[in-house]
Amino acid sequence: MILTVLILFYGLCTTGGSSAVAQADIGHRFLRTSRSLHEAAPLRPSDLVLVYTTTPSRLPLVHATRPARRGIRTIIVLQDAEEAARLNEHYGGEKSEYNETYLAWIDPAASASAGANGGPYGRTAPAATHPLHLLGPAWAMAPLLAHAAVLASSSTLPLATTTAASAAALSISEGSPPLPSYRWMLIARDDTLWRPHQIVRLLSQYDDSVATAISDHFIDYNGHELLAPSAAAAVCLPCSFNLTELLGRRHPPGVPQPSCPVCRPASGCEFRFNLCGGLTGGEYCGTKRFLGSGDRCSHSWAAGGAGLALSITLLSYFGQEEWAGCVRAQRPSTGERSVGRCLWRNGFSFTHPAAGLPEGLTRDVFSSQHMLFGNPVLRQEIFGSSADAVLGPAYKAEAEAVRAAAAAADKAAAAGMALSSGAVSHDGAESGIAIPASTRLPSEGGQNCDRECREWLLRRGVNVHLDVPYTEDVDITAAATVLQAAAEGVARATD
Ligand SMILES: *[C@@H]1O[C@H](CO)[C@@H](O)[C@H](O)[C@H]1NC(C)=O
Ligand SMILES: *[C@@H]1O[C@H](CO)[C@@H](O)[C@H](O)[C@H]1NC(C)=O
Repeated sequence: MILTVLILFYGLCTTGGSSAVAQADIGHRFLRTSRSLHEAAPLRPSDLVLVYTTTPSRLPLVHATRPARRGIRTIIVLQDAEEAARLNEHYGGEKSEYNETYLAWIDPAASASAGANGGPYGRTAPAATHPLHLLGPAWAMAPLLAHAAVLASSSTLPLATTTAASAAALSISEGSPPLPSYRWMLIARDDTLWRPHQIVRLLSQYDDSVATAISDHFIDYNGHELLAPSAAAAVCLPCSFNLTELLGRRHPPGVPQPSCPVCRPASGCEFRFNLCGGLTGGEYCGTKRFLGSGDRCSHSWAAGGAGLALSITLLSYFGQEEWAGCVRAQRPSTGERSVGRCLWRNGFSFTHPAAGLPEGLTRDVFSSQHMLFGNPVLRQEIFGSSADAVLGPAYKAEAEAVRAAAAAADKAAAAGMALSSGAVSHDGAESGIAIPASTRLPSEGGQNCDRECREWLLRRGVNVHLDVPYTEDVDITAAATVLQAAAEGVARATD
């Protein structure tokens, strides 16, 4: 069945078939619906849904971005149903001027098996030590919860949320597709500020009736260390790219391939395999498992603070229960890593916009200067020095804690103790626990972005990540003030 579908897609690509027949039925699920980019209305901010996963103590950060997201529905996921209900009541839910809906993810399977150390990962898993790991399952479930909630609140579609695809099927048989209840979902950390003009401009180049996940700021674990941002991400270039045109007939080896209509893990793995010269690995390319062959290399994920965009068609493809099964089947991990893994398990990888390439600004697909998602240079432009003035002490404390944990882990290893229970390893090794990578400028370098480069980033960068550490001693109110001032600037900007 899957083979048939692939062949069908291959056929569509090569014949340039675009819209009316471009649906493939996988048990009533569609990778592509009947609308093509050319038939679709121009993308507007109201076609977006923002998703944040947070804790009650960090909620002021999410509220601080309100000025920048007027007219955009926002779904805020917590881990406490009572708290979510209270917040909906208090802030007026989706009908309020802030257009915010609060949801909660409490894993029913986890509570059923809850013992002293119960939880979504069962009894024997290492304890989740980092707050982002505790938040991980809710983070990973948030896109599906948000998708279901938006469909349910939209009167033009049936309430049963897992039947988005059958709604599409219905409309196809009746000939006139209903307007989708949203077109793109944007997911990032609770301290990420999205820039509506810029994200709309970027996403307008993509077809939301195709199953697509977009980001250009990736993290990889190569078996030895975290690569962040990674230049070996197992991703594809956009379907519309013509590499011969962009890079010349003899373009450099190790460039991700344009993939049509969807990006598959196999395509990303082939790129990585070529980049690394096969299975030899080495310092940069890491282990065989990272390199893989065929579609069996390990997945990349979008840095949480940088975020990602998912088309409604991609989200319609997943069943909530299957997705939850994938989330539960992992060791404690950050939600962003789980999302990357579960997309991968379902046969999808990311499309990398490589924004600098078609504009002739760079020949390097992974140029970190030209990253539109969570660009550290743009972070500095938008937040100025106030961010580091407020957060500097917390960054210092965080770095100390990492050093201490690494030292403790080394000591434990030297003493022959198992690393499994609650030990933090800096690299996310077999324990599956990683200190999440930062989206800030490295202290050395990263400054080679001149005025022109900064102006381009100001025009194009789709979001900025303030990066407020998940430690107790951070001043959330002061951080929220920095975020709000920036959000007001974004709201005032006409472009
Ligand atoms: C919330 O957002 C949706 C989509 O943009 C819009 O249709 C709706 O009118 C908004 N609600 C309010 C109260 O602004
Ligand atoms: C890509 O560009 C080259 C050079 O401009 C052109 O010859 C070729 O036909 C293009 N390929 C496609 C598929 O459009």
